[in-house]
Amino acid sequence: MTKQSKNLILLGAPGSGKGTQAAKLTKRLGVPAISTGDIFRENIAKGTALGKEAKSYMDRGELVPDAVVIAIALDRLDAPDCKDGFLLDGFPRTTAQADALGAHLAASGRAIDRVLLMDVSTEELVRRITGRLVCKACGASYHETDIPPAREGLCDACGGALTKRGDDEEATVRNRIEVYNANTAPLAAYYEERKLLVRVASGAATPDAVFADIVKVLGE
Ligand code: AP5
Ligand code: MG
Repeated sequence: MTKQSKNLILLGAPGSGKGTQAAKLTKRLGVPAISTGDIFRENIAKGTALGKEAKSYMDRGELVPDAVVIAIALDRLDAPDCKDGFLLDGFPRTTAQADALGAHLAASGRAIDRVLLMDVSTEELVRRITGRLVCKACGASYHETDIPPAREGLCDACGGALTKRGDDEEATVRNRIEVYNANTAPLAAYYEERKLLVRVASGAATPDAVFADIVKVLGE
């Protein structure tokens, strides 16, 4: 992959592995991984006004309103560490967000280079998310049976306590997937029209196999 093609979007349903692959890719490419969901969860933990607003939507598995998300994401993309590239996880999620992102990048002479779509079946998404464990301290993600930590309840990376996310209960997960299908799935066609979309990985692939596929696609 050439130096300039590092402005990437990871597109995929809840549980498709965006966070898992972002953690691997950020190390490989040396560009920051930006998850709007993580930004909201940090604000919820700190009890900020943004956190309180976001929580009311996240708890129901609904999208946080465009105006709120767009302001946060575009501001983050103007930080100096995004100068040589970035990896977006969970943004954009609507056509309005994608339009705002494109216009904002163009205004600073930048553009999206690739959109990596991870396609996974609904039942596999539900199975993955309902088994997910997340480190409270560093955010690393595990799965009860597929990707268990070496020591039960503790993070391999930092030793922090593993917990379940508040929106990972099955009914909420199913709503999040419906919301994705209605609002975010159309972005695949949006980016396909712009010749930026690349499909990676089959639903059954392991995280390492998905990562190998992404690296191949990017020509790294
Ligand atoms: P967000 O935090 O972005 O959640 P999400 O999109 O629902 O996605 P997840 O984080 O659940 O899944 P993931 O794709 O990262 O999968 P992971 O790698 O963890 O958003 C949360 C909420 O914030 C939204 O519902 C919304 O309210 C709000 N929000 C955020 N951005 C917004 C926006 N732009 N606009 C409006 N609202 C916004 O993997 C899942 C599990 O599977 C883990 O256990 C993992 O270990 C395991 N796993 C991963 N890969 C594999 C594999 N290949 N095989 C087997 N298991 C695997
Ligand atoms: Mg995630």
